[in-house]
Amino acid sequence: MFMELLGIDIGGSGIKGALVNAETGEMQTERFRVPTPVSRKPDEMAQVIKQIVDHFEYEGPVGCGFPSIVKNGVCMSESNLHKSWVGVNIDELFTRVTGHEFTVLNDADAAGYASMNYGVGRGKQGLVIMITVGTGLGSGAFYNGELLANFELGQIPYKKYKKIEDWASSGAREREGLTYDRWAKRFNKFLKHVETIVAPDLLIIGGGISKKWDEFEHLLQLDTRVVKAELMNHAGIIGAAIACLREQHHGHLS
Ligand code: BGC
Repeated sequence: MFMELLGIDIGGSGIKGALVNAETGEMQTERFRVPTPVSRKPDEMAQVIKQIVDHFEYEGPVGCGFPSIVKNGVCMSESNLHKSWVGVNIDELFTRVTGHEFTVLNDADAAGYASMNYGVGRGKQGLVIMITVGTGLGSGAFYNGELLANFELGQIPYKKYKKIEDWASSGAREREGLTYDRWAKRFNKFLKHVETIVAPDLLIIGGGISKKWDEFEHLLQLDTRVVKAELMNHAGIIGAAIACLREQHHGHLS
């Protein structure tokens, strides 16, 4: 049994890691962040993973949130990464480069795990959806506390956009220099679609944007209850670490 687990959250702009207490879900260290290599290619990103594992002088299994569809450790969609990721067994690649055992799952699923175990989602029944807002729009769905892996609500096409995340994510806000007011209208529209399509009982908003919650909360007008992920941007790291523990007990996640 490992007391401290290394959780890593891979995003479009940064790759972040920290040691997490396996029982309480608390972060035991500061977050260590390395910018995501511009190429967003497998080998370069694997080197950053090694750098993070080495930084913590860590021995043990690693849990890792990854920004694409992940099935049995394999990357199944290009998302915002380099297309050469598709078909790569991420578990195997990271294990080969670092010598550590890896559990890899979708990043928003990982963030959702943290909220469902230690945050606002704890004990919540029905359909709870964690939305992470960053370079893309991620979604983690839980029904009566059980993960429904690889929900991809940010991939819904919208007007001229191939996927709505290209219009309503933080990445879009930055690219287009939108004020929070203007961006929040887009984000609200996205959440309205989510409401129409899957009728959630609770929406939890996480990812980098949760730090700016006060700037846009009043602009969200939905029938569903919407709350901020109070673990904020740390949820992805904590959830990844915890998922790795679960895997040790129950076998593969998805
Ligand atoms: C990907 C998702 C991911 C989200 C957040 C999207 O582009 O398709 O798998 O969860 O970005 O990183």
